[in-house]
Amino acid sequence: MTVIGIDKMSFFSPHQYIDMVELANARGEEPNKYLIGIGQTEQAVIPATQDVVTMAANAADEMLTASDRKEITMILFATESGIDNSKSGAVYLQRLLGINPYARTIELKQACYAGTFALMQARDYVTLHPKEKVLVVASDIARYGLQTSGEVTQGGGAVAMLVSANPMIAEINQDNQFLSRDIMDFWRPIYADTARVDGKYSSNVYQDFFKAVWQRYKEKSGRDISDFKALAFHLPFTKMGLKALRDVLPEANDEQQAALLDEFEASRVYNKRIGNLYTGSLYLSLYSLLENSQSLEAGDRIGMFSYGSGAEGEFYSLTLQPHFNSGLVTGQIESLLANRQYVSIPDYEKIFNNQLRGPEDRVIDIKDDGAKFTLHGQKNEQRQYVCN
Ligand code: CAA
Repeated sequence: MTVIGIDKMSFFSPHQYIDMVELANARGEEPNKYLIGIGQTEQAVIPATQDVVTMAANAADEMLTASDRKEITMILFATESGIDNSKSGAVYLQRLLGINPYARTIELKQACYAGTFALMQARDYVTLHPKEKVLVVASDIARYGLQTSGEVTQGGGAVAMLVSANPMIAEINQDNQFLSRDIMDFWRPIYADTARVDGKYSSNVYQDFFKAVWQRYKEKSGRDISDFKALAFHLPFTKMGLKALRDVLPEANDEQQAALLDEFEASRVYNKRIGNLYTGSLYLSLYSLLENSQSLEAGDRIGMFSYGSGAEGEFYSLTLQPHFNSGLVTGQIESLLANRQYVSIPDYEKIFNNQLRGPEDRVIDIKDDGAKFTLHGQKNEQRQYVCN
């Protein structure tokens, strides 16, 4: 049978960051609460020159060849922080990336979960149409507000994935188990640009959902923890994934427990420095695992736990393909992190309050941004995107 899965992956996050020790000091918290208790060391700062559309375009552009752009027949745009209540981010991408016009475009929303749903739709579509390719992007700006308890769990960026037959990176197995429950742990009313959250409750529900879908997965698949080389988690903050991992570690023997903890460390290297990117967090964690693990091999099974508040949980597995590292853009994240500019807390607060909002015309200075796709302002309530 033809293997269907993730052929390529690419990532983008803007060029500025803050240091979590400085944020802790500014907020009167112990630095180790942020560094260890939350598990974050830096956080991406999103300038007015970037939104979910430009971040998605910057991520996808680096991995797409000219023939990919001709062969893509569907663009699925997953986001919690879309820029329009009507038009999808995907249709902007089709133009900005020069993807052929005979591709369908749509946006999907369910808090941090929509990237996983998009990926599964892509897999199922390509299973039926193995000559076609689907572009999935998960792009978000995580905003809770200045001086809120969620502030340390902000961040932003985009992950792009190309789904095809005979993929380079991983087969997406048909073994998904999921759970939905209508609850209010995190939400964002249509008029608000920051999330509303019941923080402790959301963390507890995340763990409960993980335990429930993992249990169901084991029952339905007949597999257990010994079938997995690594587990990757949605990481709203990296300690959250560690808490979930600790829920299953007792099922493994000592040797496997140590190995799973090592793989978890590899899977959070990038998320610790970028922060939350809602829909993209699980996939940045997968990227981090693939690039930073010392022991992954073709054929290994990786467990993936996706969580979106409100709430939806899903567990499924990937099987690594023979040349899995060839599907990543070599050195991309290392170079992105090495070139980021440090921002002081007072400057970050100004940038935080300077996002494009409201109906007024505005021109945004893009000279310091450096990315290929930027947001140059707004005219007649239409965002003005530039390809530099
Ligand atoms: N050294 C080491 N650890 C310390 C410490 C110190 N000096 N001081 C405190 N800590 C530890 C605490 O013991 C605690 O650890 P445990 O969770 O293991 O008990 C941890 O630091 C955090 O401390 P608090 O619980 O006191 O922190 P808080 O009240 O400020 O809230 C939070 C933390 C609830 C995560 C908050 O940041 C928040 O609301 N974040 C947004 C919501 C969120 O991310 N929820 C996750 C699930 S929802 C989801 O996944 C969807 C999504 O993306 C939003």
